Amino acid sequence: MRKIYIFDTTLRDGEQSPGVNLNTQEKVEIALQLERLGVDRIEAGFPAASPGDLAAVRAVALAVKNATVIGLARSREQDVDAVVEALKGAKNPGIHLFLATSPIHRKHKLRMEKEQVLETADRVIRYAKQFFDNVEFSPEDAGRTELDFLCEVTEMAIKAGATVVNIPDTVGYLTPYEFGNIFKTLKEKVPGIETIQLSAHCHDDLGMATANALAAILNGADQVEGTINGIGERAGNTSLEEVALTLETRAEYFQAKTSLNLKEIARTSRLVSKLTGMAVPGNKAIVGANAFAHESGIHQDGMLKEKTTYEIISPETIGLKDSKLVLGKHSGRHAFREKLIDLGYEQLTEEQVNAAFGKFKDLADRKKNVTDEDIRALLEEKIIETPEIFALEQLVVSFDSHATPSATVTLRTAGGLVKHESEGNGSVDSIYQAIDALSGEVVELDDYTIKSVTDGTDALGEVHVVLKQGDSSAQGRGVSTDILEASARAYVDALNRLIDKRNAPARNRRDNVTLI
Ligand code: KIV
Ligand code: ZN
Repeated sequence: MRKIYIFDTTLRDGEQSPGVNLNTQEKVEIALQLERLGVDRIEAGFPAASPGDLAAVRAVALAVKNATVIGLARSREQDVDAVVEALKGAKNPGIHLFLATSPIHRKHKLRMEKEQVLETADRVIRYAKQFFDNVEFSPEDAGRTELDFLCEVTEMAIKAGATVVNIPDTVGYLTPYEFGNIFKTLKEKVPGIETIQLSAHCHDDLGMATANALAAILNGADQVEGTINGIGERAGNTSLEEVALTLETRAEYFQAKTSLNLKEIARTSRLVSKLTGMAVPGNKAIVGANAFAHESGIHQDGMLKEKTTYEIISPETIGLKDSKLVLGKHSGRHAFREKLIDLGYEQLTEEQVNAAFGKFKDLADRKKNVTDEDIRALLEEKIIETPEIFALEQLVVSFDSHATPSATVTLRTAGGLVKHESEGNGSVDSIYQAIDALSGEVVELDDYTIKSVTDGTDALGEVHVVLKQGDSSAQGRGVSTDILEASARAYVDALNRLIDKRNAPARNRRDNVTLI
């Protein structure tokens, strides 16, 4: 079996999803989970984009112990310098350089002739090679690049010292047959191709990102790039969990495997969804809520007789446990700790366990059975601390279907408690009006989503909001058994992040850097 290297770009291409903006702590949290999942390479960000991006890449590089941590760079020396700076102290650093090669990009974006493209990339790869052993080069929009020129570019990259040549279908335009053929041709025609790794990077604009990546593997690709849950620019990137499970399920066909610990897939998917605020559609392959649900009578009958009639992957393979062990208000700290270990949160500090236990006890007072999902929701809310400029102290809501709803909100601030009552055209609106009045901030609610964490009328509700203020935006999360309280918590969380961004512009600013 050939090993297929997994290059995760959730923190870079994934973070380019509209509306997603992860802070450093969230990036580190995801990177540590990616390491548990066993990815080989983590693209942590684009250090030249802003001091905040550089700091986040540095934080990831210092936290990650086993995977190679990679920074993205345009084909410019100053971008390489930013990656060098960000990856100082990394155990296993690497750089990912790119330059567009397709006729459309050469003519309209770069205004470069083929020769200039070759010279620029050659010069910058050689420059980067002075600092990094691992140098990946991507001819951007390779999918629409003339095949003979792509061969020339690949040969140049190998001679200049690239260790990986990545073939991006940047705009998700190709079919599996066409994409596979690029790999076949490069393998056949480029001298020295056997000395480097070939990589596939696909986008899902026509829904073929996973199929294209698999076609690349069949034609000799050594590495697949992608993201968890397939998030990414526009329609997203190849879903790494789809590639990994296809190779696992169809091992005989592909004769290739990854080193992923598949049991960490469900947890990684959940964490990425939570921190990015991008919900996983119910029908999403592998990680969607319905991926293992059998609805029709005929299917259910078949499943009861023999699971393999309708199940090609078991939920346990990706770490979904049908846990019946529920905790309640009489459960003690010991049982809670055991549960945390069982759920994979063994790395929590005593202080974090104590804080989570306090939250668990509060929840157990309100909810009869506290399930694994509830505990995960509490923990994942707790682990990532956002700067608390405002904290929700108390919420009183008055709703009568024949009267105007109103809310009284009390916030804790550095100057003490502040309280305000507002009316609105609904309970959530009145809460948000009261918070706005207290904070003095003029913000726009750009997105509001709510979902229940578990079943039942006493389930935890999880609210995700995106707030906008001018050009800046921030997301926030809130979890509670009461959806109004969850709504208030999410709004306050987003507000804190928005203010933090404004207060620390150097750290948070993403310069108007375009990917050219
Ligand atoms: O899709 C793309 O072309 C990219 C490059 C930066 C590799 O993400
Ligand atoms: Zn991409």
